[in-house]
Amino acid sequence: MANPWKKQRLKDTALCRVGILFAVTVSIVLMLVSVPRTASNRRFSDSGLDSLDKDLEGNLNASLLRVARENRMSLRLHKRNLLPPRNLDLYPNLAKDHVVIVLYVHNRAQYLRVTVDSLSKVKGISETLLIVSHDGYFDEMNKIVESIEFCQVKQIFSPYSPHIFQGSFPGVTPNDCKNKGDEAKTRCEGNPDQYGNHRSPKIVSLKHHWWWMMNTVWDGLVETKDHEGHILFIEEDHFLFPNAYRNIQTLTRLKPAKCPDCFAANLAPSDVKSRGEGLEFLVAERMGNVGYSFNRSVWENIHQKAREFCFFDDYNWDITMWATVFPSFGSPVYTLRGPRTSAVHFGKCGLHQGRGEEGDCIDNGVVNIEVKETDKVVNIKEEWGVRVFKHQAGYKAGFKGWGGWGDKRDQRLCLDFGTMYRSTRSGSSP
Ligand SMILES: *[C@@H]1O[C@H](CO)[C@@H](O)[C@H](O)[C@H]1NC(C)=O
Ligand SMILES: *[C@@H]1O[C@H](CO)[C@@H](O)[C@H](O)[C@H]1NC(C)=O
Repeated sequence: MANPWKKQRLKDTALCRVGILFAVTVSIVLMLVSVPRTASNRRFSDSGLDSLDKDLEGNLNASLLRVARENRMSLRLHKRNLLPPRNLDLYPNLAKDHVVIVLYVHNRAQYLRVTVDSLSKVKGISETLLIVSHDGYFDEMNKIVESIEFCQVKQIFSPYSPHIFQGSFPGVTPNDCKNKGDEAKTRCEGNPDQYGNHRSPKIVSLKHHWWWMMNTVWDGLVETKDHEGHILFIEEDHFLFPNAYRNIQTLTRLKPAKCPDCFAANLAPSDVKSRGEGLEFLVAERMGNVGYSFNRSVWENIHQKAREFCFFDDYNWDITMWATVFPSFGSPVYTLRGPRTSAVHFGKCGLHQGRGEEGDCIDNGVVNIEVKETDKVVNIKEEWGVRVFKHQAGYKAGFKGWGGWGDKRDQRLCLDFGTMYRSTRSGSSP
């Protein structure tokens, strides 16, 4: 699809506004005539789409704006993300010391059902705000989130998820290089990674979503951009024990005294197969990727390493953090946790690999996680000492990355996420 306005520099704001209006109008017309409307496309009403231009202009880095305005769904998701949380009538106030919970999800509904059911039994959850961040737009996932009645819920959708772009970046474009060496033979678009492979939108999607979500939650949403305290992050295949919320509150409260060097507090051991030692001490160890929480000043440290994050040639957000971002802090990045896990990673189907278009990873969604009495109450004691686990195995500085993240377009999009809520709009783009 040729976009005559794509490369054009729009110098003054008035002209820019007309350009955007034109672009939106043209995109709508193009969508109407060329793309079969899917069920998800019909979910939003068209009215008020124009009024979105102003919001986007004020909010978005110029190159993101260019990506968004090529896709009608993307514009709609931007708008939908501005809706207030649901269940405000049931839970009008958040507790003063609440830990916000962010659940990031893709499309595994059979898992999300289990996770949401476990959340419904978490003690204290009604005191806080749950943000569900979606990578892609899937009706089945929405239905599950819409059924939540146990706390305030805010749903956000990455407007740049490759899953909502058909035929243009960040989705697959017709001109993308596909195979090793294509870039030398044809005039295709794309840069190979360190192993010679070209980008796969399905694979880069998770790292993009994680970074978009982090920036949006900490710096973008009116509900959380002034939240100084901790935010707890979980995924669609994490089972939380009933004591998870009270335990994370306890850990974050104890952290300054017990482990001043700890950056974070975790619900689960960094070794995902471990359920903990079950003994009477706290643990300071390498930060894990199940049920981690940190506060705004740690986010500031992470955000300052946006270039490290966005240029590291690995499609995994967590390995990127371990191999580049954390080591660049200059001191070991410990997290504090209890001796018994309060969260379990149960998913067996991978997010992006080993599955066809329709998701052929068979899993009946039955999980058998035994919840004991001790998992229902705070099981961390203030008087316990802290054991520091040094020199644990795992990804660290020096690891070269698994690749999959060599395309300059992905790196630029990633950098844009880091500046989208921070820089002042200049009205021009490179
Ligand atoms: C946030 O956490 C860091 C690391 O634990 C700590 O040094 C800092 O004082 C905390 N900031 C606030 C505002 O509590
Ligand atoms: C948009 O983001 C890019 C990449 O991070 C940055 O170089 C550029 O200055 C940003 N533009 C604006 C207008 O903030």
